[in-house]
Amino acid sequence: MNPRILLARAIFPEVLDRLAQHFDVTSNQCDESWTQLEFIERLQGHQGVFTTGGERIDAALLAACPDLKICANMAVGYNNFDLEAMTTAGVLATNAPEVLTETTADFGFALLMATARRMAQAEHFLRAGLWTRWRYDLFAGAEVHGSTLGILGMGRIGQGIAKRGALGFGMQVIYHNRSRLDVATELDCRARYVSKQQLLNTADHLVLVLPYSAASHHAIGAPELAQMKPSATLVNIARGGIVDDAALAAALRNKTIAAAGLDVFEGEPAVHPDLLLLPNVVLTPHIASATLPTRLAMANLAADNLVGFLTQGKALTPLNAEVMVKQQVLC
Ligand code: DGY
Repeated sequence: MNPRILLARAIFPEVLDRLAQHFDVTSNQCDESWTQLEFIERLQGHQGVFTTGGERIDAALLAACPDLKICANMAVGYNNFDLEAMTTAGVLATNAPEVLTETTADFGFALLMATARRMAQAEHFLRAGLWTRWRYDLFAGAEVHGSTLGILGMGRIGQGIAKRGALGFGMQVIYHNRSRLDVATELDCRARYVSKQQLLNTADHLVLVLPYSAASHHAIGAPELAQMKPSATLVNIARGGIVDDAALAAALRNKTIAAAGLDVFEGEPAVHPDLLLLPNVVLTPHIASATLPTRLAMANLAADNLVGFLTQGKALTPLNAEVMVKQQVLC
């Protein structure tokens, strides 16, 4: 009998077909939203689950789903997983790194440009029929080329953004990270390591690309925003919760900083109502990795992890590899 897997969300039909060659698949191509209880009910009797970053895998779910062996996330971020609980329960967690790096870095840079050059604001003005004539300061924004680009969180995506800024736009790149990069990588990215305070004080444009965890919760709140330049822009393509959205809305309203570009939000898809009222913020619905080739590559990687682990005991991108090793020993 084939292992049974549950797809928590709608996915590419070709990926579904591929999975159906290996598994007894319960799909959700209608893309129904389930409560946590409904998710747990549907998971009964399944050995694998394909998740997309929004489905919570915690100790309560694991206790209620004893057949579960692997959760494959179609996302590089995995803050929807309680990794410790999964490891304790002997459930493998996998994510989808690397395949989205360049696409997400492209988007981070696009959001920086749109924010600094006030593109969304200008477009709304034009569509509203308010453009009657040229004016010397009409939607004059911040300079991008030659300015100082700050990056908080310098993993693969942060490095991709650094290279775009340094090589494409002649920016001075500074970064802060939990651990400093090795010299060769710093040289490759043309990036200089600074303290978090120096990053906040110096950056003309600050891009957040760090993973979300208890340690990074509200890493940017009122005290941090107050340390930034009044002319600065802030871009968040990482996760909601890293920024205190209420404090950011206040900072944008009071002109503590000039503008923000946000692809992720605390409690998304809800958006803090104050942000919706502000003109100096560009808002997008968590689409940084959204090109069809990249999303397909992410889905295929999640599928490869399910197939590899449930048929041969080996996943490509495990997050708790100790579980994989233990299962291999048991086989
Ligand atoms: C990721 O892969 O983590 C992106 O944010 C898409 O969810």
